Amino acid sequence: MALRKLVAGNWKMNGSLAALSELAGIVEAAQARPDVDVAICPPATLIAPAVAAQPGLAIGGQDCHANASGAHTGCVSVTLLKEAGASCVIVGHSERRADQHETDAEVQAKAQAAIAGGLKAIVCVGETEAQRDAGQAVAIVEGQLDGSAPREGTGETLVVAYEPVWAIGTGRTPTVGDVAEMHAAIRAKLVALLGAEGAKVRILYGGSVKASNAAELLSVPDVDGALVGGASLKAVDFGPIIAAA
Ligand code: 13P
Repeated sequence: MALRKLVAGNWKMNGSLAALSELAGIVEAAQARPDVDVAICPPATLIAPAVAAQPGLAIGGQDCHANASGAHTGCVSVTLLKEAGASCVIVGHSERRADQHETDAEVQAKAQAAIAGGLKAIVCVGETEAQRDAGQAVAIVEGQLDGSAPREGTGETLVVAYEPVWAIGTGRTPTVGDVAEMHAAIRAKLVALLGAEGAKVRILYGGSVKASNAAELLSVPDVDGALVGGASLKAVDFGPIIAAA
């Protein structure tokens, strides 16, 4: 089943108020492809100004807390993200799994909170290079889905992003064959976990996506879009990726 593609940009801890000027060009590229969903996930402080600058563009967070409120210094709740104008949130990015030691269970709780609060949850999974070299890539990702995929997720509320850790920010990408194998395995797992809705959940590929490789990666079966880091910061880089979807 061909799902509507989603091309999402993860600005990570990059950007600035001044960099929001890039959004105009991104909106232009998005308007040229009304058949593709486009979202930008800037740092939390830029969400509200991004929404103010481009009310028509979907803006998302990069993380949320599983709780609605409370004594959690430095964290951001789903309610706060929504109030700022976010419509989606990335959870379980490998940088957070590594830097903040987030577990599958925590990622699942965050995704559940996001969905319950009305945000689309983009749940990230992906193996390390050592795990791939050991032939464990598919098993690792299946295990991450077992532990972190919210079972109430639907095609509307849940997106999964496959991001091999070794491909993030390195300029390296898996072969088309490896991407196809992994996305087919993720699809089968989602159907096993979520039933019919699992066939409707979009599976994004992420890791060194750029204009020159986007068309090839996005043509792989069950690649329903891309999660883009570095190449999402500038409209001149991100626009062609949207066009390639
Ligand atoms: P790069 O596109 O910079 O490799 O980052 C991918 C990523 O981590 C998106 O979440």
